[in-house]
Amino acid sequence: MSDGFSLSDALPTSNNPNPSAPPPQGWPSWGTQPPAPGGFPAYPGPPGTYPGAPAAYPGAPGPYPGAPGPYPGGPGPYPGGPAGPGPYPGAPGAFPGAVAGPGPYPAPGQPPSGPGFGPTPPQGGPAPPMKVPFELPLQAGLAPRMLITITGTINPNPNRFSLDFKRGNDVAFHFNPRFKEDNRKVIVCNSMFHNNWGKEERTAPRFPFEAGKPFKLQILCEVDHFKVAVNDAHLLQYNFREKKLNEITRLCIAGDITLTSVTPAMI
Ligand code: GAL
Repeated sequence: MSDGFSLSDALPTSNNPNPSAPPPQGWPSWGTQPPAPGGFPAYPGPPGTYPGAPAAYPGAPGPYPGAPGPYPGGPGPYPGGPAGPGPYPGAPGAFPGAVAGPGPYPAPGQPPSGPGFGPTPPQGGPAPPMKVPFELPLQAGLAPRMLITITGTINPNPNRFSLDFKRGNDVAFHFNPRFKEDNRKVIVCNSMFHNNWGKEERTAPRFPFEAGKPFKLQILCEVDHFKVAVNDAHLLQYNFREKKLNEITRLCIAGDITLTSVTPAMI
């Protein structure tokens, strides 16, 4: 358009502060999906959310058209989160009605920007990266069907990064990709109780992260395990060692990544 304002500027994006980043929500189908050619798989979001985005799984059944995966129902607000507007009133969720959940999302002092985001006029320009280490408070703790979607980019020459779902000082679930352990890449999962690490699980069938590349990492809390998917493909699961889900009230993200978004939702 002649005034430089296009339709896409007016449409809500997700609560992802970087509109060019991959959309953060949804859950991949079971079975390993071949990656979309050309890099990050297209995200089949609800109609109108990502206009023009091709559906990666056309015709996939489910109550949310285009949403892949076997989970009934669609994302909703995180329980215990603010009823109604969250810290950034008016911020659209990737799915209407979804809110960012409690806590500093994005990090305090880093209000989201970008076309259509928030009550103020669009600022334009890329969103500032979120601070790492980053902590997401989970006010009501974890619960089955809670999905946390993290998007970001692996730093150049990375050594490691980690997610830690914490209950006090204990780590209920440590997810730790290591890029150069004895010149190998490995994903280590573990828990820590009373400052002692347990037995490591190193069973991930592949290492889907690459230096300098963007990623979408999803952690789905199930009834007795976590499922982890990367770039829309299931990677591994981790059986609960800590069973008091509602006391797992923090997610800490650290290491050699740049963070773009961290989004909790219920599916
Ligand atoms: C340790 C490492 C911790 C954690 C743990 C997992 O060797 O120092 O950061 O990754 O392994 O088992």
